[in-house]
Amino acid sequence: MNGQSQKLEVLLSEHKSGYSLAQPFYTCPEIFTADLDAIFYQDWLFALPACQLNKAGAYERIKIGAYDVIVIRGTDGGIKAFHNTCRHRGSTLCSAEKGRVANLTCPYHQWTYGLDGALLWARDMGDDFDPEQHALKTVHCREAAGLVYICLADTPPDFDEFSRSVSPYLEVHDLSNAKVAHQTTIIEEGNWKLVWENNRECYHCAGNHPDLCRTYPEDPSITGVSADGVFPAMVETHFNRMEDAQIPSRFHMSDCGQFRIARMPLLDGAQSYTVDGKIAVRKRLGRIPYLDAGTLLLFNYPSTWNHFLSDHSITFRVTPISPTQSAVTTSWLVHKDAVEGQDYTLENLSRVWTNTNAEDKRVVENNQSGINSPAYAPGPYSPLHEDGVLQFVDWYLTKVRAATSDNSVAAE
Ligand code: FES
Ligand SMILES: [Fe+2]
Repeated sequence: MNGQSQKLEVLLSEHKSGYSLAQPFYTCPEIFTADLDAIFYQDWLFALPACQLNKAGAYERIKIGAYDVIVIRGTDGGIKAFHNTCRHRGSTLCSAEKGRVANLTCPYHQWTYGLDGALLWARDMGDDFDPEQHALKTVHCREAAGLVYICLADTPPDFDEFSRSVSPYLEVHDLSNAKVAHQTTIIEEGNWKLVWENNRECYHCAGNHPDLCRTYPEDPSITGVSADGVFPAMVETHFNRMEDAQIPSRFHMSDCGQFRIARMPLLDGAQSYTVDGKIAVRKRLGRIPYLDAGTLLLFNYPSTWNHFLSDHSITFRVTPISPTQSAVTTSWLVHKDAVEGQDYTLENLSRVWTNTNAEDKRVVENNQSGINSPAYAPGPYSPLHEDGVLQFVDWYLTKVRAATSDNSVAAE
């Protein structure tokens, strides 16, 4: 066993349940690498909404730790993912973050690949050269009801349970007829787990999110994970009303706690995340008969949380950059035929979550800088308001413990 995993094992054994993690989990480069190895290089990761790649050749480049991946729509209409590394001498192929190409041409010696990754052209490589041996390396890529996921592992974990579970909930949101109206990426100076811990509670909402709190309930049963499966009468009434209208809504969490989906009511009959609580988009995305259907909440660790509303949908992607830096990409999806200026304005559509993201960035960065101090000691989570954080931390520790014990066995 090496020193790094020994240190991690000690930290894991010293962790006090119900408390935040010890400082090195949020700051230490070795633990950041262990997180990448155990989680981000193994699990299915949300890449983008499929509608973002609206034409053949449209692509986005996604960096996860040391990996650099191109997610691209092919001429056959399917979406594939490739490592952004040329099979000649390894140059980066795409240097833009996103765009649209006819082929993928390496800027170094112009080896040219088709949208399916096949090597189409390489100059003067000799008679023995076999282009078929030099196609781009693929990354596993799957789609669930309009959400594209990738997996960097050689043998990916099961994707079907997730897809089977969430597709009925998502189907009514009709993401196949969506377009990206607005997209932002912000860099938060905080460990990826602090981004998640902040997302998994609304204990901080009243003090930090004036716009969001006009429509999103601070009630912990909305954001939390209700380990006993009991919800307040108001939430049960909402579930029943929606399910009676054939809109899947009831709380569902995977056995291992990696994903949860539930359609929750907004405050006082609010319709959408706008300042006045009314829908943001007149030409609505999806087939939900009620404007006040609330928000379909979906998180899937370690990379995404989402809100699907009766008029538009919002996806969020978290990617770790360094022990103390993470990127959060937010995409606002509207019906593909909705016209800006006529059916919606970007200001009204995006204001609440643009502000909420900026506020969350500030609280995450304050959290990180306080943890950086030698005076930091793990503190207790509120059993009422922070059960979602506790659930996230438990999921995280289970993953890291499993990987650590696998590594110990391998080293023996
Ligand atoms: S490294 Fe790409 S063509 Fe040479
Ligand atoms: Fe927040």
